[in-house]
Amino acid sequence: MSDKVLEIKGLEKSYGERRVLNNLNFEVYAGEIFGFIGPNGAGKSTLIRIISGLTQPSYGEVYICGLSVQKQFEKAISNIGVVMENCQLYSYMTGRQNLQYFASLLKSVTKDDIERVIKISGLDNRIDDKVRNYSFGMKQRLGLAQALLNNPKLLILDEPTNGLDVNGVIELRRTLKILAAKNNMGIFISSHILSEVEQLCDTVAIFDRGSILEMRTMDDFQNDGKAQKRFRIRVDYPNYAGKVIALKHGLDVELAGNSVIIPYLPELYDKIIDDLRRRNLTIYGTTVVSKSLEDIYLDILKERRYGRIS
Ligand SMILES: Nc1ncnc2c1ncn2[C@@H]1O[C@H](COP(=O)(O)OP(=O)(O)OP(=O)(O)O)[C@@H](O)[C@H]1O
Ligand SMILES: [Mg+2]
Repeated sequence: MSDKVLEIKGLEKSYGERRVLNNLNFEVYAGEIFGFIGPNGAGKSTLIRIISGLTQPSYGEVYICGLSVQKQFEKAISNIGVVMENCQLYSYMTGRQNLQYFASLLKSVTKDDIERVIKISGLDNRIDDKVRNYSFGMKQRLGLAQALLNNPKLLILDEPTNGLDVNGVIELRRTLKILAAKNNMGIFISSHILSEVEQLCDTVAIFDRGSILEMRTMDDFQNDGKAQKRFRIRVDYPNYAGKVIALKHGLDVELAGNSVIIPYLPELYDKIIDDLRRRNLTIYGTTVVSKSLEDIYLDILKERRYGRIS
């Protein structure tokens, strides 16, 4: 049985004439990692501010563990932890003092909770240093520790991979997976880079200009990537080869280094190779490649903005 930890119903937000969020509806379940992926200005932070009760929606409701953020604010909010884009930390205090301070603002957070979140953050040996001496990644980890103080059922992170190095991203991924699997926490994570969260999420929503364009399980997405196979042909003059294929066969062609990448159409393959050879091009080899999820994501955005492209 899955519990709904977040439910968004008919949510809209306008600033004056400008509609920023447009009739959003979706749910996040306990133990699920939900990725909300969209480019700059799509409305991700606005949505997160509304879920956290920092901004009022124009229409619609947000329920956290079945409690309305609009009508039962305190009870609803007691079930979430939020890591915002720039987490507010006091740089003149140590990491531990920051956590103690934030704990004092919350009901029922104990000393054990503080020790628990320090362990999760991996900051053990630096927790008594002043935050002003922390690196960016360490501040992010302290922000996460702070958000976990009340042992939330729903953890919300706004672009947490921004500014982290590769190791930082891998570590964060590991921590979040453990929290979802062991603590059955629902995790809502926003990002503008699908490839940074694709190994993390169970479900993804592709979001742009205030609307969800697609919502799928990550498995569906990955199968789609595998299904969208393409030929990669290595050739001595890829530019020229690309033009020949585009003009003669009307196909979408992509250039990558010494290769042309074309749609996977086995029935046309021999003819294409023939055409290239007749123009004295040398073919070094062909491989079949899957489309990356980032490519599919960008295609979805392009298609919705400019109409179908192929
Ligand atoms: N307080 C505000 N007043 C007016 N417009 C706002 C306000 N806050 C956000 N907006 C507008 O709402 C839109 C969405 O902004 P938002 O910060 O939610 O995007 P985002 O998806 O978080 O982008 P980014 O990836 O850059 O963080 C933008 O056009 C922004 O200008
Ligand atoms: Mg933002």
